[in-house]
Amino acid sequence: MTAAHLREDLLTPRFYTTEIDKAAATCLEGTRERFEALLAEMETDHNRDHFDRRAPLERQRSLGPREKAAYESYLVRSCVSEFSGFLLFKELSRRLQQAQRPELSRLFQLMARDEARHAGFLNRALLSEGIELDLPRLSGRRPITWFPLSWVLYSVFLSEKIGYWRYILIKRHLEQHPEHGFAPLFDWFDAWCQDENRHGDIFNVLLQSWPTLTQGLRGRWLSRLFLWSVFLTHSLTVAERDDFYGLLGIDASRFDDAVITATNRSARQAFPMVFRLDDGRFLAQRDRVVTAFRQLAAAGAGPATAWRPLDRLRLRLTLAVQALALALQPMEASR
Ligand SMILES: [Fe+2]
Ligand SMILES: [Fe+2]
Repeated sequence: MTAAHLREDLLTPRFYTTEIDKAAATCLEGTRERFEALLAEMETDHNRDHFDRRAPLERQRSLGPREKAAYESYLVRSCVSEFSGFLLFKELSRRLQQAQRPELSRLFQLMARDEARHAGFLNRALLSEGIELDLPRLSGRRPITWFPLSWVLYSVFLSEKIGYWRYILIKRHLEQHPEHGFAPLFDWFDAWCQDENRHGDIFNVLLQSWPTLTQGLRGRWLSRLFLWSVFLTHSLTVAERDDFYGLLGIDASRFDDAVITATNRSARQAFPMVFRLDDGRFLAQRDRVVTAFRQLAAAGAGPATAWRPLDRLRLRLTLAVQALALALQPMEASR
C-alpha cells in the first residue's frame, strides 16, 4: 500500500486508549433507566441481517485515475476510522470485564460488534478495488494515543454523531440523485448510520453519568475544545477530499455546512454549550480556515524556490491564527 492517496497524514484517524480504572468507576445511578433501554436495544441487534457478507460491493461504473484515487482514499480513511472505534470498544469491553463491570463490558462488546461490521464492509469494498488493507498490522504499527476519560466521552460522542450525519446526508442526497450512486456501498448507509446514532446516544448516557464533566467551567471548556477540534478536522478533511464529494455530485463546502449544523444541534442533547451558528459567523470563519489550508497546500505543490520555506512558514502561521479564531467563536447555552 504505497500509492500517495493511500498514505497516512495528519488528518488520518488515530487509535486511542483511556483511563480504564476511571471508566470502571462510572456510576449509573442517575442514568440506569436509559442505560438499560439502550443496552436492550443493542442486544436486539437491529442490523443483524443488514451487513450481508455476500452482497456484491463492486463499483458499477469505471472511474478516471483521479476519481478512483478519491474514492479509494475515502474508503481507506473510513475503514481505518471504523476499525479504530472497534479497537477502542473491544479493549474497553475486555478491561471492564476484568474490573467487574459486566454490564458496561457488554455494552462496549456490542458496540465493537457494530464497528467490526462497518470496518469489514469497507474492507470488502476496498478488496473489490484490489486493495488489501492489513488492519491488525496497521494498528500495531501506529502509536496509540492516550486520552483522559472525559476527552474520550466528549470526542467519541461527537465522532459517532458526526458519523451519523455524514452517512445519512450522503444517503439522502443519493436518493434525490441516484445517477451519482456509482457503488453499491452507499445503499447500505441507511441502517448503518442508525448504528452510529445509537452509539452516540450511548456515549451521551455515559457522559451524563459523570455530572461534573458537563458542569461549570470544565463543561464549557470541554464543549468548546471538542466541538472546535471535530469541526476543524471535518472541514479540512472535506476540503482535502472535495474530489470525492464532486464524484457524488455533492458540493463539498455545503456538505460541510450541513454536517456541522446538524452535529452542533445533536450536541445540544449532551454538552452544556454549543457554537452559535445562526448568525453565520462561525461558518464564515470556517471558510477563512479552509482558504488558509488550501493556500498552504498549494504552496507545497508549487515549484521549489529560495523563498518557499519562508512562504510556507507564513502560511502555516496564518492557518494557525485562523484556526484559533475559529475556536474563539461565540457559543450559547444548550438549553
Ligand atoms: Fe461505525
Ligand atoms: Fe460507531
